[in-house]
Amino acid sequence: MARVQGKVAIVTGAASGIGRAAATLLAREGASVLLTDRNETDGHAAADAINTAGGEAAFVRHDVSAEADWISVVGGLMDRTGRLDVLVNNAGVSGGLRGIDDTTLDDWRACLSVNLDGVFLGVKHGARAMRRSGGGSIVNISSVLGLVGMPRVAAYAASKGGVRLLTKAAAMEFAANGDNIRVNSVHPGFIRTPMTRARDASREAEWEAFMRAVQPTGEIGDPTDIAEGVLHLASDASRFMTGSELVIDGGVTAR
Ligand SMILES: NC(=O)c1ccc[n+]([C@@H]2O[C@H](COP(=O)([O-])OP(=O)(O)OC[C@H]3O[C@@H](n4cnc5c(N)ncnc54)[C@H](O)[C@@H]3O)[C@@H](O)[C@H]2O)c1
Repeated sequence: MARVQGKVAIVTGAASGIGRAAATLLAREGASVLLTDRNETDGHAAADAINTAGGEAAFVRHDVSAEADWISVVGGLMDRTGRLDVLVNNAGVSGGLRGIDDTTLDDWRACLSVNLDGVFLGVKHGARAMRRSGGGSIVNISSVLGLVGMPRVAAYAASKGGVRLLTKAAAMEFAANGDNIRVNSVHPGFIRTPMTRARDASREAEWEAFMRAVQPTGEIGDPTDIAEGVLHLASDASRFMTGSELVIDGGVTAR
């Protein structure tokens, strides 16, 4: 039995990495998936691959930090399908590694505008559509860096910590309203995607060694490890979960 059969889903940042894996798994488990991203070439390729494999997918260009984009993406989907059951707020940027003293206000805002404003806008416009659909599930991709700190990632960690509590506040509000909308966060550890590739190719081995050293098992995660958690939170199997945080990190925050 497919686990999200008949559901209509949006996955942001679906051109790459975790978002692409989540969109692919949701489609394989029966959802009709709208992939969105600001990277059109890879976004179309990801949707085409899902359709070729027998799934149901479409792609639309979307900058998650722009409210006008959210209005047109969600409005267009509602016009076509009349419903939204699942929203995965996955799009994100790393902001790079830099100390607080070297972080300009523009650096800070660039990171928060995608990672936190983008999730806020998704929760707002996604929930409006879900209310018209009788309810739904919102899955916000945070990070282990929304739970614990690390040097040289202040903006990223602040954005992901913000996602964690935005999730809980929205979950409480929608529960109190009787909206039947669940909101949960996912906290990946190090996952092998373009985001965790070293900027400078000559330092790839050093970066790989660092990531492995912080993992209790020495293993770096795969995007499908996170997609499985997203699928669970999207599906009715998690109907009693809201406001919770699903940590998928190979044990890194258990130390
Ligand atoms: N890879 C990891 O180790 C890791 C760990 C913890 C959390 N995360 C989070 O997982 C999510 C996915 O990251 P990933 O590792 O797959 O990275 P990735 O770089 O492979 O994918 C991120 C996608 O988001 C898109 N994107 C960026 N800014 C956007 C915007 N303004 N509007 C729309 N799309 C935008 C990019 O084009 C890209 O396709 C991010 O939120 C990231 O912070 C990743």
